[in-house]
Amino acid sequence: MRIGVSLPENLLNKFDEIIQQRGYSSRSEGVRDAIRNYIVNFEWMSDVEGERVGVITILYDHAQRGLEDSLTEIQHDFGSTIKSSLHIHLDQDICLEVVVLRGEGDEVRKAAEKMMTLKGVKHVKLTTTSLGKEL
Ligand code: NI
Repeated sequence: MRIGVSLPENLLNKFDEIIQQRGYSSRSEGVRDAIRNYIVNFEWMSDVEGERVGVITILYDHAQRGLEDSLTEIQHDFGSTIKSSLHIHLDQDICLEVVVLRGEGDEVRKAAEKMMTLKGVKHVKLTTTSLGKEL
């Protein structure tokens, strides 16, 4: 199947730089690999269950209209699961937020997913660990 996608120029340039460094034979091969990784990550997130401690790392453009309000709103919605958060103004445009959660894996995952889909969010990473009781 062939698809057409619109991307910001700097994103595509960065992608091309990486696929060249990694030695992919074509951009298409790099895109296929990126999509596979995206799917694996999604499936991994779907498997997050049981009592969990999670850390969500969010990089975002603070000039994006309404984004900080949306992030705050989500954090209030998950107020009983979120234990702490840390905000760092990385440079003129970019903010880093680190959110620590403890609760049902399902809730931890939902919080991360809500943040991922907001416009202006550059990167969201979720890591989780069990409390180790069953180890
Ligand atoms: Ni900031």
